[in-house]
Order: sequence, then C-alpha cells, then structure tokens
Amino acid sequence: AKQPVKVLVTGAAGQIGYALVPMIARGAMLGPDQPVIIHMLDIEPAAEALNGVSMELIDAAFPLLKGVVATTDPVEACKGVNIAIMVGGFPRKEGMERKDVMSKNVSIYKAQASALEQHAAPGCKVLVVANPANTNALILKEFAPSIPEKNITCLTRLDHNRALGQISERLKVHVSDVKNVIIWGNHSSTQFPDVNHSTVKTGKGWKSVRELVSDDKWLNTEFITTVQQRGAAIIKARKLSSALSAASAACDHIHDWVLGTPKGTWVSMGVYSDGSYGIQPGLIYSFPVTCEKGNWSIVQGLKIDEFSRAKMDATARELIEEKSLAYSCLN
Ligand code: NAI
Repeated sequence: AKQPVKVLVTGAAGQIGYALVPMIARGAMLGPDQPVIIHMLDIEPAAEALNGVSMELIDAAFPLLKGVVATTDPVEACKGVNIAIMVGGFPRKEGMERKDVMSKNVSIYKAQASALEQHAAPGCKVLVVANPANTNALILKEFAPSIPEKNITCLTRLDHNRALGQISERLKVHVSDVKNVIIWGNHSSTQFPDVNHSTVKTGKGWKSVRELVSDDKWLNTEFITTVQQRGAAIIKARKLSSALSAASAACDHIHDWVLGTPKGTWVSMGVYSDGSYGIQPGLIYSFPVTCEKGNWSIVQGLKIDEFSRAKMDATARELIEEKSLAYSCLN
C-alpha cells in the first residue's frame, strides 16, 4: 500500500477550506489510490470552527483519509508536509481593493514561509491560493530561500478553467473538449485570458477556437472581460467569493503538477519567471505549463501577436507594482 501523503491546508476553517478538504480526502487531488493525512491550520478566532471541520472529516468516514491534524500552531501544521495549499489570508471583500489587503497578507506569508522552510518535508510543493496570490507566493519564496523556486506556485487554474467554461458555453461543446487556453500574468483583473492557441475537439478533429468562434470582436473584448471579472461577478451573486470552483481548481493544479498533464495539453500556473516571453525574472507570473514527473515547464515558442504582447506586459507591470508595494509593507 502507498504511504500517505501529508497535505497542509491553511485557512482550513474558511469557505474554500471547507470545500477543499473533502475533495482532497476523496482523492480528487492525488488520485483514488493515494492515502492522505490532512493538516489544517487556522487562527485562534477560528479554532472552534476548525474543530467542527475536523469532526465532519471523521463523520464522512473517507477511506483514503489516514489522519487529521487541526491546529492554530504553524509549526505543528507544517511538520513533515509534502504539499502545502495556502488558502489562509485576509480575503478581499465586496468593494475592497486588492491593495488594501496587501499589508496584512505580507506579514502572514512572511511568517508562514519560515514555518514551511523549517518544518515541511524536503521537496514540499507549495500552492498559494490566498490573494494577492502571485505576490503572496513571491513573499513566501523570498522568505523561504531553502525551498527551491520551482516548488512555489500560485493558483491561476481557476481563471484557466473559467476561460475553458466560457468557450464551452459559447460553442455549446463539452468543456473537456476545449483545451490550451492560457492565463498570462496576475490572478487579478489585469490577467490576460488568451485563446489564440486554444483548440476544440470536433467531429473533424481539433480545430482552433478562433476559427470556430469566428467572432473576433467577442473573443477580443467580452470573452476577456468576462473571465477577468468573473470573481467579482461571483461575489456580487453570492455575497461571498468563489469557493467550490476555487477548491476544485486547487485540486486540478496539484493533480496535474504531481501526476502530469496529458500529452498535447497545457495548463496555466503562476510560477517564478525565468524570463520566458520577455517577462521580467523575479515575478510570479502565470504561464502555460506542461508537467511531467512532478515538475512543470513553461511551454516555449508560442507566437505572440501585438495585441497579446500589450496585455501580457500590462499585467506584468501590475505585478511589478504589487511587488514594490509588498516590499514597502515589509519596511
Ligand atoms: P475565508 O475568509 O472564508 O477563509 C480564510 C480563512 O483563513 C479564515 O478561516 C481565516 O481565519 C484564515 N486565516 C486568516 N489568517 C490566517 C493565518 N495567518 N493563518 C491561517 N489561517 C488564516 O476566505 P475564502 O473565501 O476561503 O478565501 C481564501 C483566500 O483565497 C482569499 O484570500 C481569497 O481572496 C482567495 N481566493 C483566491 C482565488 C484564486 O483563484 N487564486 C479564488 C478565490 C479566492
């Protein structure tokens, strides 16, 4: 039998946490034959609610779940973990700007970087979900220098999946027949959802989305803004931010990172830029990646037109600004 994998979920008493831990315990993240031990971290005011989540995990009698650690101590939470899903943070509420929450999150991510660096298992893979996700991941990377940069990522898979969903709705095809959209840049409204390389499975083989949609105006305007603004639309409708779709995307992100992407398919992940596509190194930026044997690599050689270039640069500029804002919060 396989050894259990230890998965940390921070902010586990929150709404994404509540949706995410049962998915992990059912095998949606690491596969149906991989036992797991779930570590859950939250803060003191949420300790009682966290205990409730623990009780429900017991009550669900998940066959794959070999243990639960629920704690408000970051050291205990990080001990020996193989995968860390960082959902805990100070979330953006309706009408609140991302920049308002920067300062609170910088101090959280600085502290948790140290706990992970000192106590996680070697090779621990980190996924930051909490906003501002790219910059929280960058802070985590800077304050956990012994964790390799390739092991620190942020979630843009939700945006990627939203883009697949919009194309599927528009063309009335199943979402699993759409592939290779790209989210470039920041997990924010400046992100660039790009369909220029995306294809759809038809009776006559794979066809490009541009050819099938044939309405360039829709693709260049409404499609992009719908994906960019989807988070806000969910907040408006639910009075709460996306939770089930965020949890599901976090599972997809780790699943594909650990188990690999299907041949000919890429996904979007926020990763440390190596300068690919002219994006300044030293930013956590969302790129198209393929994964194999637990490692991601940025898809190379895609042709970038002028329209895309401008949008990719604009979201990079926002990340540069966020980075300097984050650093100003440190001092
Ligand atoms: P929530 O407010 O329901 O839960 C957050 C949890 O984090 C709370 O239980 C809170 O007590 C806990 N927390 C706060 N500080 C903590 C700390 N220092 N250590 C551990 N836990 C801590 O928020 P929700 O809806 O679950 O969202 C979580 C985060 O995910 C937010 O930052 C949100 O903006 C972000 N998000 C990111 C998405 C993405 O695609 N990257 C999509 C949707 C949400």
